[in-house]
Amino acid sequence: MWRVMLCTLWFFVPLLLRVRTVCGSAVELQAQVKTEVVFRPEECTQRTKKGDMVNAHYDGYLQKDGSQFYCSRSDKEGHPQWFVLGVGQVIKGLDIGLLDMCAGEKRKLTVPPELAFGENGKGPVPPNATVVFEVEVYAVSRGPRSLEAFGEMDLDKDKSLTKDEIKEYLKQQYEKGGNPHNDHHYEKVMADIFNKNDLDKNGKISVKEYNIYQHDEL
Ligand SMILES: *[C@@H]1O[C@H](CO)[C@@H](O)[C@H](O)[C@H]1NC(C)=O
Repeated sequence: MWRVMLCTLWFFVPLLLRVRTVCGSAVELQAQVKTEVVFRPEECTQRTKKGDMVNAHYDGYLQKDGSQFYCSRSDKEGHPQWFVLGVGQVIKGLDIGLLDMCAGEKRKLTVPPELAFGENGKGPVPPNATVVFEVEVYAVSRGPRSLEAFGEMDLDKDKSLTKDEIKEYLKQQYEKGGNPHNDHHYEKVMADIFNKNDLDKNGKISVKEYNIYQHDEL
């Protein structure tokens, strides 16, 4: 269990780093993420774009010796994380490298330090380290927390999302990507969503709770 927690922490920690480097040097602007598509499903219509809610797994390795510094997919207890793409919830290299992907797609991303953990490194990542992420997108939902996505999930149109409604949506998105039915997986993802979004803990996610980023759409 602690490994899962560690993963979750790791995932958000880079945010802090980004704030410090936000003024961006010329070097940062020139730095690029090298993207290799490892697998792309035949049906690949809806692709990720900035602001989408993405559910993905990613394992992080140091390029220099291939050692793993971040567990995600490799950990059996680990479940894919939901995050909003392109808004700095993950390191810059992932925000860039996860663009234009469809559910079920796998990529290998090579991220230079400027777009990863920078001159100082972080935890097990040494200073100036180029890192490699093996990523797999499980689901993409239209965002950013848009009325469109909310409406799609809100089957009974009562302006709130129950666990059943969200589960149904997850199931559709996940299995659309060619993945086998996996109740355990849906339960994990749902627990994560409710934990983060059901602020008043009433077992339902209201429009307001859903739209925690206060976007204009709602
Ligand atoms: C990291 O790179 C920066 C910029 O090239 C350099 O100034 C710094 O000394 C490097 N740090 C280490 C520990 O190599």
